[in-house]
Amino acid sequence: MKLAMIGVGYVGLVTGACFAQTGHEVICMDIDSKKIEGLRKNEIEIPIYEPGLKDYVKLNVAAGRLSFTTDLNQAVSQSQVIFICVGTPSREDGSADLRYVYEVARSVGQTMQEYKIVVDKSTVPVGTAARVRQLIAKELARRGTNLTFDVVSNPEFLREGSAIDDFMRPDRIVVGVESPEAERIMQELYKPWTDGKFELFVMEVPSAEMTKYAANSFLATKISFINEIANLCALTGANIKSVQKGMGSDKRIGPHFLYPGLGYGGSCFPKDVKALVYIAQTLAYNFKILEATEIVNQAQRHRFILEITRYFQNNLEGKKLALWGLAFKPETDDIREAPSLTIIERLLEMGAELSVHDPEAMKEVQFYFRKHANRDRITYADLPEAALPKAEALIINTEWEVYKNAELNLIKSRMKNPVVFDGRNIYDPAKMREMGFTYFFVG
Ligand SMILES: NC(=O)c1ccc[n+]([C@@H]2O[C@H](COP(=O)([O-])OP(=O)(O)OC[C@H]3O[C@@H](n4cnc5c(N)ncnc54)[C@H](O)[C@@H]3O)[C@@H](O)[C@H]2O)c1
Repeated sequence: MKLAMIGVGYVGLVTGACFAQTGHEVICMDIDSKKIEGLRKNEIEIPIYEPGLKDYVKLNVAAGRLSFTTDLNQAVSQSQVIFICVGTPSREDGSADLRYVYEVARSVGQTMQEYKIVVDKSTVPVGTAARVRQLIAKELARRGTNLTFDVVSNPEFLREGSAIDDFMRPDRIVVGVESPEAERIMQELYKPWTDGKFELFVMEVPSAEMTKYAANSFLATKISFINEIANLCALTGANIKSVQKGMGSDKRIGPHFLYPGLGYGGSCFPKDVKALVYIAQTLAYNFKILEATEIVNQAQRHRFILEITRYFQNNLEGKKLALWGLAFKPETDDIREAPSLTIIERLLEMGAELSVHDPEAMKEVQFYFRKHANRDRITYADLPEAALPKAEALIINTEWEVYKNAELNLIKSRMKNPVVFDGRNIYDPAKMREMGFTYFFVG
């Protein structure tokens, strides 16, 4: 089948490469010409860090099944199914900013010459597909044509860091359709998956749109819940690691997303939680659990900062601190809404000097702080251990494997003082104490 991905970010590029891998012919379009130029080079430049993605892209470009363009007209005209994969960031009031989705819808209406299926893959509130339909219809009416088209909702559940695997081996595929023809084409598109016994749920369009928000909001709530339990463990003397095990082994609860820490970040949970709270508010419904989820999430990173500043008796002026982990989670270079950014800003504000490391997200953080008044007080270490000399404390923000497996003796010998603030609970508290560390963790 001939497909177009509009928007070549985490979702568009992964979706395009994975569909190509199953034999579909895919053209990926983006307005960011630098991104597209890089992807079209002989030595393909992948704009994001995502394990396994480069191999998939290379393989499918070489096989002639995957191509890139900045020309929307070309992408639309040569494709039967057009996926909208553009960003839907938060607005100031928490609502999803849908302007990029609508821009694409209008452009599709202006350029299509025959029946097309337009698929919303971006995360969008209930009613967006209906609005996309209206916008396309309006453009067609303006052109005086009576071409037919379908709008489908096919939300994406991949996780950054394991996006390829999530896409190729999904827990489920959700498709919201309005017509038998759209359902038939979506079934055919996902045949390689349904043949492989992965389930495809066909439902009403609004239900598909809501499913994505419901899933993300539930997972975010699970994280905030375990963080509250961890905070209570710290006050009562219970051991959060034991509680986590005891709770997570209950099949009705499950062990996933039950890790206490600095809270969730990234480009999805924060904005999707805010968007669902906003949607509820516009309907005069008070979604109390979700409002609390967001409040707890923000409070979690501030608790951690407070613990650090309290240890230094509110005097961080000139203190040298090492920071490990900048990405919002391991195996990605994404720093959107990462707790590390809040922590760095606050520590800089208090006069600290920071030596930071991350396996993949250093460039992004350097760019983020490029205009910050105190940017000169951040140094970027090329190896984890290079951040440690003279450090009066080590702060861990992201649970990368390289930090989990770090040689604890080496950490101790390199630092000025063996003090660790572990925002992700990656070490064993008893062992740390035994080795002479002053060790703070969540819980
Ligand atoms: N990142 C994730 O893990 C993830 C997972 C599931 C769902 N989603 C959802 O998918 C959507 C996309 O997320 P992302 O992380 O891939 O975003 P992203 O910011 O990485 O990429 C979006 C891309 O769209 C491009 N774009 C913007 N306007 C355009 C236009 N008019 N025409 C063509 N291209 C345009 C941008 O240049 C950018 O390259 C969001 O709604 C997000 O919530 C993201």
